[in-house]
Amino acid sequence: MKYLVKPGGLIRGELNVPGDKSISHRALMLGGIAEGDTVIEGFLDSEDCLATLAALEKLGVRIERPAPRKVIVHGVGINGLQAPRVPLDMGNAGTAMRLFMGLLASQNFDSTLIGDASLTRRPMERVATPLRSMGANITTHNDCPPVEIRGVADLRAIKYELPVASAQVKSAVMLAGLRAAGRTKVIEPATTRDHTERMLSAFGVEVLRSKKTIALEGGQALRGTVIEVPGDFSSAAFFLVAGCLASDSGLILRNVGINPTRTGLLDLLRKMGADIRVHKRSDTNNTATTGSRRVSSLVGGLSADAPRTMPAIEPVADIEVRASRLKGIKVPESLVPLAIDELPVFFIAAACAQGETLVRGALELRVKESDRLAVMAEGMTKLGVKLELLPDGIWIQGGAGFKGGYVESHGDHRAAMSFAVAATRAEEAIEINDVANVATSFPGFVAAAEAVGIKIAVR
Ligand code: S3P
Repeated sequence: MKYLVKPGGLIRGELNVPGDKSISHRALMLGGIAEGDTVIEGFLDSEDCLATLAALEKLGVRIERPAPRKVIVHGVGINGLQAPRVPLDMGNAGTAMRLFMGLLASQNFDSTLIGDASLTRRPMERVATPLRSMGANITTHNDCPPVEIRGVADLRAIKYELPVASAQVKSAVMLAGLRAAGRTKVIEPATTRDHTERMLSAFGVEVLRSKKTIALEGGQALRGTVIEVPGDFSSAAFFLVAGCLASDSGLILRNVGINPTRTGLLDLLRKMGADIRVHKRSDTNNTATTGSRRVSSLVGGLSADAPRTMPAIEPVADIEVRASRLKGIKVPESLVPLAIDELPVFFIAAACAQGETLVRGALELRVKESDRLAVMAEGMTKLGVKLELLPDGIWIQGGAGFKGGYVESHGDHRAAMSFAVAATRAEEAIEINDVANVATSFPGFVAAAEAVGIKIAVR
């Protein structure tokens, strides 16, 4: 499957992007091990999240789908998962595989996790290593899937300092910690997305955070709840950049999650001089079963460094963007984990900004659905951008925009959508190969892009 995107286009109007992928995965998994029912509204029915849904069903969780974006999970309780009869296929979804490793490591039955060609090249020891030190029995193959998990009697809590800033590794250890004896602590080298912490709070689990340490006590039960999934900031990102590049009359993105651990791209674009306005809406109401404990521990009597329980809510906003003259920037490394999935489309913005942009400290981009540094550098070079690929980042000479031409997404959904955005500032059409995986995160991308003025067709 290919996209053919004609150059130019006036970007305008309003858009609701589909639900957040990270939050949809977590809502299914936590709903599965909760007591009672969980209702998920705004669920992302993309291939990745449907892989998580199918795997939970194979683990004995009954799930209803009264509407495409509404899911009811009949939780089996923290000790209720059953041995799957077949390998669990995670498709393209790294989040699903790594979080399931955490969930399954503590079970007394065996399970095997498999994935597609891209996922089968991705590192899994980063998760297996801390889980083994909790007592799990896990085998990877040269660091990669299939991941074989043997049943164990029990796990013990650990204190684990993450060697890489990874929300997936953090989340896997916390999920294993739910069924481990004692208090599990994870220390992150830099802040990463905290959806697991917030959602565990929504399910009534006490998760404490002080500075870079997250702690939870094993043996806590989860209570089914209502989860409202906000629009995915990572999907909105493509249109944020398209708006910055080509929306004279403005573009509004409605109901987008703006959890501060996800919105590094907003800071980066603003540093470049982008005209972006965030209109805060009321937070999503994921607090159905969280009682007074959460509120009471947030008020009064605590020193600044004292551990605090995590808020159960996800902040949401409408985001308005208008074209403006962007200038190149040096990206602060602290923003890299907060913008990790948006860096491919940020590179597109950088190519259109006046002056140079430098990104370092982004080695993690090399182990995403593709080597995103290499894939973006290859495609942008083909489109006439002057750049230098660095071991852990990229240097981009901005200002010239893009020629047209043929680029390879290498099966990476975010690369494919980023190149489509580039067409708004291209001289000729851009043809993008191997785009079927866009459905893993953004079903309806083509219709959404067309609706706001991107001249995109599928071949
Ligand atoms: C995710 C965490 C990030 C991100 C991925 C989703 C998550 O991965 O890139 O798309 O939902 O926890 P890492 O934890 O590998 O950084």
